[in-house]
Amino acid sequence: MKKITVKLKSAPYDVLVGSGLLRSAGKRISRVLKKPSLCVIVTSPRIRKFWGDALEKSLESARLRFQVAEMDDGEAQKIFASVEMLMREFAAMGADRSSVVIALGGGVVGDVAGFAASIFMRGIPVVQIPTTLLAQVDAAIGGKTGVNLVEGKNLVGAFHQPKLVVIDPDVLSTLSDREFRAGLFEVIKCGVIRDAKLFDFMEHERERILQRDPATLLRIITSAVKVKADVVAQDEREGDLRRILNFGHTIGHALEADTGYKHFLHGEAVAWGMLVAVEIGASEGATPRKVADRISRVIESYGPLAPVSSESPDILRLIKSDKKSKNGVPHFVLATRIGSVKIVNDVKPASVKSAVAKLRSATL
Ligand SMILES: NC(=O)c1ccc[n+]([C@@H]2O[C@H](COP(=O)([O-])OP(=O)(O)OC[C@H]3O[C@@H](n4cnc5c(N)ncnc54)[C@H](O)[C@@H]3O)[C@@H](O)[C@H]2O)c1
Ligand SMILES: [Zn+2]
Repeated sequence: MKKITVKLKSAPYDVLVGSGLLRSAGKRISRVLKKPSLCVIVTSPRIRKFWGDALEKSLESARLRFQVAEMDDGEAQKIFASVEMLMREFAAMGADRSSVVIALGGGVVGDVAGFAASIFMRGIPVVQIPTTLLAQVDAAIGGKTGVNLVEGKNLVGAFHQPKLVVIDPDVLSTLSDREFRAGLFEVIKCGVIRDAKLFDFMEHERERILQRDPATLLRIITSAVKVKADVVAQDEREGDLRRILNFGHTIGHALEADTGYKHFLHGEAVAWGMLVAVEIGASEGATPRKVADRISRVIESYGPLAPVSSESPDILRLIKSDKKSKNGVPHFVLATRIGSVKIVNDVKPASVKSAVAKLRSATL
């Protein structure tokens, strides 16, 4: 088992990564939270069917009292109504300030359950047990929780850091191939922005990674978690450093918004976004051509991706209105070499336009 500490000044916490860890989650939780009055597992029916038993047994053997609150984990359910429904269940179960929420699921469950925990009785602890690759390397770490509004994605939420994150790569065995590959693009992102060795590994071990070989998964998840933990610890509230995690996301978010969040999985949109970012980087002189081509090749090797049909003017408009733009000026994270990026606010619209136009003709 690997232990990565997210070194926040106020409340550091551990991310544990190991095969079979779900079965000892109860023991781990009781070490971190002394005698919680109740553990409320928040999960979806689908995830519960595969992994609920293992978690419940581990809580039983650690003599922890628990109840289960189910929610539907479609993105359409990432709304206030789900948060209210969960909190009413917490109240009906008799949860109090010394109870703990255990989020067992992908990013949707983690974000909604985390948000409910952040406001129920003005805040109770949450433990994240992510079950998708995306949630394991990204969503479960860093304390961002929240829901969508009709007006936009993730517009409401709170920072609520977990007390513990338990990552068991074995749970990925039931994940669909498409969801799994979408998560791999976020791992490639971590390599590009901060870990050249991880990038090399993704480049050379494609076969074993796609076969979901347990030791290989442990290797890539641990490295990606370290990147995220490190960045979050240095920049808890999303100042400038944390923006490097948005490599590929300026265009990725625009593609998702333009297609009503239905056409792409998040990781797929980020993959296209990274392909655009390296083209922009090359035309702006920030990314050496060789580096750009190498990044593109590795991304493409983990395809296929849902094709892009968006028009470039729509993309340009959407990136200006992105939540992460400052005063309507989009920022781009551009690779300067593998393992290092810089944030640029003055990319020429023509560079963006021609990079997006290239995408439309590409199908991976
Ligand atoms: N808080 C953050 O920092 C952060 C970061 C990135 C993404 N997010 C959010 O995460 C969400 C996306 O999360 P996601 O990609 O994990 O998708 P998800 O939670 O929507 O799950 C995807 C699908 O996989 C299923 N599933 C989950 N685990 C499974 C397993 N082990 N076996 C079989 N099926 C399984 C789910 O039931 C669901 O149908 C978005 O809402 C996004 O905004 C948050
Ligand atoms: Zn992302």
